Amino acid sequence: MSKWLVILFSIKYILADPTPIVLWHGMGDTCCVDFSLGSFKIFLEKEIPGVYVLSLQIGNSTIEDFENGYFMHPNKQIQHVCKLLANDPKLSDGFNAIGFSQGAQFLRGLVQRCGHKLPAIKSLISLGGQHQGVYGLPHCGALQHASCDYVRKMLNYAAYYSWVQESLVQATYWHDPLDEDVYKKQSQFLADINNEREINKTYIENLNRLNKLVLVKFESDSIVQPRETEWFGFYAPGQAKVLQSLEQSDLYVQDRLGLKKMEESGKLVFLSTPGDHLQFPQDWFVEKILQPYLV
Ligand SMILES: *[C@@H]1O[C@H](CO)[C@@H](O)[C@H](O)[C@H]1NC(C)=O
Ligand SMILES: *[C@@H]1O[C@H](CO)[C@@H](O)[C@H](O)[C@H]1NC(C)=O
Repeated sequence: MSKWLVILFSIKYILADPTPIVLWHGMGDTCCVDFSLGSFKIFLEKEIPGVYVLSLQIGNSTIEDFENGYFMHPNKQIQHVCKLLANDPKLSDGFNAIGFSQGAQFLRGLVQRCGHKLPAIKSLISLGGQHQGVYGLPHCGALQHASCDYVRKMLNYAAYYSWVQESLVQATYWHDPLDEDVYKKQSQFLADINNEREINKTYIENLNRLNKLVLVKFESDSIVQPRETEWFGFYAPGQAKVLQSLEQSDLYVQDRLGLKKMEESGKLVFLSTPGDHLQFPQDWFVEKILQPYLV
């Protein structure tokens, strides 16, 4: 009898549709062209036959998608994506999500602000996301583009001017540890989703509805500074040398985002890989992420 049950369950597993996956690309990237996230989508479709992969295009063309990564306010991007996903019938039974670089903190913002309007988001995979912001953009890596140089100059010069916050995506997660108060007051995106100004209970509840929040840190990351932000670490307040971990931060100690509870219930997963920003071998991804969290 039990043998038959096992066989029945196996058949059900084989026939069940795989959980869809939503991808959110990073700065200097686009959803769909081959040398960008397009090939990653094909890779997922090959590894998980029949899976529906939605790689988000923010804007109506590849060019707009690229430009919006610099110039469309994250609050607007999240509102836009919230509607898009809520109206996609293929996602109605729930989905997993993978964020690349800044796309990872935008996905977290989406979960926190809009999770109650969406089907269940099971695992959120953050690949090199900047959950405590950045202080410095040491070099632009492969992104040898005029926009990147412009961004670096603006951030060093005037990240917290309101017009910069309103017009430059990266300014909204610029985190100056020498002036935590200004960051908390002026950051229009990150300080809000990290509950720095006040505690929004909806954010906590929505984030805690995830099954897993998987945070991947790139150990040789030369683009994100400091790279500990990929695990919610950052510079200790008041200086830019000594780092502190998530567990040492006010965010955790005061439990402003419910991360303590998530960690205690095994929902927070910390992974690292030796490469530079977003550089990982496919077999690493299959073993550490795809098999445990996506199938
Ligand atoms: C796409 O184009 C439509 C029609 O022009 C516009 O209303 C919409 O805002 C555009 N979408 C984005 C994300 O820019
Ligand atoms: C908390 O977040 C929810 C979801 O985004 C929002 O509707 C609500 O207005 C926020 N509450 C406060 C006090 O800002």
